[in-house]
Amino acid sequence: MTVHALVLAAGKGTRMKSARAKVLHQAFGLPLLEHLLRSLETLGLRTPTVVVGHRAEDVEAAFQGRGLAFVRQVPPLGTGHAVRAAQDAWSRHAGTLLVLNGDLPLLRSETLAALLETHRSRGAAATLLTAVLTDAGDYGRVLRDPSGAVRAVVEAKDASAEERAVREINAGVYAFDVAALVGPLEALSPRNAQGEYYLTDVVASMVAAGRPVAAFATPDPSEALGVNTLEELAAVSRLLRERRTRVLLAAGVVLEDPTTIHVGPDAVVEPDAVIRPFTFLEGRTTVRSGAAVGPFVRLVDTEVGPGAQILDHCLLREAVVASGASVGPFAHVRPETVIGAGARVGNFVELKKTRLGAGAKAPHLSYLGDAEIGERVNVGAGTITCNYDGTSKHPTRIGAGAFVGSNTTLVAPLTVGPGAYVGAGSTITEDVPPDALAVARARQVSKEGWARARRERLAREKADKEAGKG
Ligand code: UD1
Ligand code: CA
Repeated sequence: MTVHALVLAAGKGTRMKSARAKVLHQAFGLPLLEHLLRSLETLGLRTPTVVVGHRAEDVEAAFQGRGLAFVRQVPPLGTGHAVRAAQDAWSRHAGTLLVLNGDLPLLRSETLAALLETHRSRGAAATLLTAVLTDAGDYGRVLRDPSGAVRAVVEAKDASAEERAVREINAGVYAFDVAALVGPLEALSPRNAQGEYYLTDVVASMVAAGRPVAAFATPDPSEALGVNTLEELAAVSRLLRERRTRVLLAAGVVLEDPTTIHVGPDAVVEPDAVIRPFTFLEGRTTVRSGAAVGPFVRLVDTEVGPGAQILDHCLLREAVVASGASVGPFAHVRPETVIGAGARVGNFVELKKTRLGAGAKAPHLSYLGDAEIGERVNVGAGTITCNYDGTSKHPTRIGAGAFVGSNTTLVAPLTVGPGAYVGAGSTITEDVPPDALAVARARQVSKEGWARARRERLAREKADKEAGKG
């Protein structure tokens, strides 16, 4: 059975109250349309046709290079009109046309497979995905005849009170026999409450023509949740997050207070990693076994090695933290940073495009940018790399085993040789040879007795003044 998928994503999404195309709104870190495309990909349907209209350029740009075929529907006059707009794309493929509303991010590929299987085994002209909801809201209602056969789908706005009481809803996913679809689609008319060409009207017309229409009810009704408002978007994001959380817990990942934790769809967390409350793992983040992250940490496209720990209140982006290293609390690690095995980055330290060697330490209050820092280097509190001269960025290199005293200013470009020692409070502007001591600060002057003499002078002046008054 050849199956061609058609995704409807041209609608205005008026109820979102947003200028953005609805399918580009993000649920759980991914655009709505991306969720749907992934479930199609899992099913082996890699090159669906996507109907776009409202904000078509934005949708096309966001998904270019994905092998999708785009068809424009201008203006969008309803879901039936959308399927018609793409007729040239799908009517060439004899077999099954799988039509999907673009706003269904919870849909699972297993469910789509079961829908297609029902369609095939029943030899139906159309098979609807349905769900039984406690509150059927504004969804289209699935009407059945006394024998249980599907008779029609009626939109909530066009339904009688009796029809509205039906709790089985149309999920907006349909398998159609291509040959059986053409006629009913051409016969659609916009005589309804919304003045639109409803795709759902083909059901009644197929039934009238004696063509069998089947239905497959989702075992998990939440899969049918469509996103029409920002409130629904938030609800769907939460469900996607909870779904992910359950998978992680089942796989042996420790999530402390999972309701506050976000492990994004593309993040990988190995068993026996510990994720603490209010922690966000976004993009292509990986946390290896035995690592602990959080609380209150955000990692974006970052890799945390085995046994490493990211302590409270850190932000890391595009960074690698090697095994056994420790970062935070309160560290800001910016892109292209690599923190070596067993290294330590402490509180109020910012790293940018910096490699910190194995066992190196920057425990407090530092800015290290464009720096190459060797193994076992100790970076004292308050050390700053002056990597920017107002025009360009310059590198700093610190050789293995060097010791940089507290409050040192390293004016780049600069090399501190391996094993060298930089005295605290120095402003280093010239390269420091290996194993040398560099001190660059004003020499201290101590004046014996100066403070006592001052105290005594002030006391004398005060006594003289008071005597003058009296
Ligand atoms: C639709 C169904 C309803 C079902 C519900 C499930 C119809 C008439 N109604 O209602 O029975 O219960 O989905 O969520 O189909 N679109 C276009 N072009 C258009 C209009 C819409 O491409 O001219 C796209 C939208 O971008 C969206 C999808 O079709 O992705 C569904 O449109 P929407 O307006 O959300 O339909 P519902 O009112 O939710
Ligand atoms: Ca919808």
